[in-house]
Amino acid sequence: MELKDKIDLNNLPQHVAIIMDGNGRWAKQQGKPRVFGHKNGVQSVREVTEAGAEMGIKYMTLYAFSTENWNRPKYEVTALMTLLVSTIRKEIATLNKNSIQLKTIGNIEMLPKAAQNELLEAIESTKNNSRMTLILALSYSSKSEIIDAVKTITKNAVNGKIKIQDINEESLTNALYTREFPDPELMIRTSGEKRISNFLLWQLAYSELYFTPVFWPDFRKNHFYEAILNYQNRERRFGMTSEQIDRTKS
Ligand code: FPP
Repeated sequence: MELKDKIDLNNLPQHVAIIMDGNGRWAKQQGKPRVFGHKNGVQSVREVTEAGAEMGIKYMTLYAFSTENWNRPKYEVTALMTLLVSTIRKEIATLNKNSIQLKTIGNIEMLPKAAQNELLEAIESTKNNSRMTLILALSYSSKSEIIDAVKTITKNAVNGKIKIQDINEESLTNALYTREFPDPELMIRTSGEKRISNFLLWQLAYSELYFTPVFWPDFRKNHFYEAILNYQNRERRFGMTSEQIDRTKS
């Protein structure tokens, strides 16, 4: 029996978030420059997108570039931006063919104009697709996102649009960049690092975390299936006891 066939399609996470890590180390292992790792990481992006859409996952968020990544050497930042533009341009047709909608979260105005334009075009061109939403986190920082949300809420409170006593989890959730997406049930990080690295801090509050030693450029469909199967073997209790969970199931 293949790994894929072991997956229970009635118990899929709706939303999977991925920290694509290890491109640089993968390249170094082969005596190649870091950018070689990023280029090879694009094939892994294709594989997980296809695997997710095929099995029926509705949302997938990929951490493609963090706010902290702006501090990398200039040539690496430029190479990543160029890769982003060329990949999106090449993949728009495939996204449309597979009815995948593209979205972004993060401080997109920080990206070079060419990348912004390419993204806007892809978002517009795929906006009616409904099979899966692929969300690219670009120039993204979860702490900045939360600060922006607090600013929005404060402004609304000062203007009398919301009462302080009415501020709750829902108001903050609705002020985040991710307001239109459900929280991820599963977060995958590759390359053996076990950190969240300023990624979806609020949204991952109850997510299952899955860490694999595989470097991102080596991550293939079967690795994704393994992560889904691992998720399906976990019991999600949300602070309740096992007995309470069993009762809600029956
Ligand atoms: C982390 O590896 C990876 C990145 C910062 C960039 C991810 C980008 C891609 C996979 C390519 C383009 C993506 C899209 C969506 C078109 P690292 O450089 O931190 O690796 P290291 O930890 O081994 O140094």
